[in-house]
Amino acid sequence: MSLLVFGAAGQLGRELAGMTSGRKLPAVLLARAEADIGDRRAVMAAVEKARPAVVVNAAAYTKVDKAEDEPAQAFRENRDGPALLAEICAAHGLPLIHVSTDYVFDGTKPAPYVETDPVAPLGVYGASKEAGEQAVRARLDRHVILRTAWVYGIHGNNFLKTMINLARSRESWGVVADQRGNPTATEDLAAAILAVAARAAEGTAGWGTYHFAGTGMATWHDFACEIVAAQAPVTGRTPDVRAITTAEYPTKAQRPANSCLDSGHFESVFGMKARPWRERTRDVVAALLAAAKREA
Ligand SMILES: NC(=O)c1ccc[n+]([C@@H]2O[C@H](COP(=O)([O-])OP(=O)(O)OC[C@H]3O[C@@H](n4cnc5c(N)ncnc54)[C@H](OP(=O)(O)O)[C@@H]3O)[C@@H](O)[C@H]2O)c1
Repeated sequence: MSLLVFGAAGQLGRELAGMTSGRKLPAVLLARAEADIGDRRAVMAAVEKARPAVVVNAAAYTKVDKAEDEPAQAFRENRDGPALLAEICAAHGLPLIHVSTDYVFDGTKPAPYVETDPVAPLGVYGASKEAGEQAVRARLDRHVILRTAWVYGIHGNNFLKTMINLARSRESWGVVADQRGNPTATEDLAAAILAVAARAAEGTAGWGTYHFAGTGMATWHDFACEIVAAQAPVTGRTPDVRAITTAEYPTKAQRPANSCLDSGHFESVFGMKARPWRERTRDVVAALLAAAKREA
């Protein structure tokens, strides 16, 4: 199974790079500078050169608040890019694994969302990702869309790293405790993508849309407390993370109050699920602090 991955410089792309090389899987991973998913010639050339069995789209515009001021760019990267990838995959008879988001939902459902629940994005980012899902479905039958959530890992920028940095310098700060979701480690998400890719390469993937997110529910405040607790034994820092409301932390984009995803359908089809988010959070914090110690 050979993979062609777009968006290789992001959190997920870099995790996929490490995992494919660790498992000695043939993979070509291209960052935006090497292939912009909005550039037809660049994408065609990449596909023709790599001749992959499966294409993975890890590229996206992910700045949730900034998207409110840059809708054209968000739609270009989250709708038009995936549309082009799906069109080129269809022309070459290739399957596409495309990553989407919990923010396609409005958060009013009290229980975790299943794949068949109606979408109703609250902001530009969610709307652009939802449009990308539709664009893929309309152009390519052999697709797997994986909706995931609250992504964190050792690469790139994410909430977990922000909390570790705050713990270095602040004694106290507030984190919203009335939005809940599933923190998802890039390591689990990348492993899920490779499991789907293996099946897609054999032609036995269950095509369609799936939810895949970290096991267990958290509020941002729960997530922050776990991160701070995990770093404390190493750094000796025990700051106070206060629970605040969304109203006390206004942001440009509105976020869903509940964006928990039910990953049961993915587990039943692909036979795997993510590790519990608290365990994974501790693993990632430990890995980051160990790396920082080595560099010091
Ligand atoms: N991060 C989250 O919490 C979260 C939550 C739910 C779902 N997701 C989804 O998970 C996937 C992976 O997200 P992530 O956290 O790895 O995102 P990320 O760290 O922001 O990485 C996205 C990468 O895509 C690149 N990119 C953007 N537009 C591109 C284009 N036109 N052509 C090629 N590359 C382009 C970006 O490059 P530049 O840096 O140059 O822009 C960046 O390297 C995305 O589909 C995202 O929507 C993420």
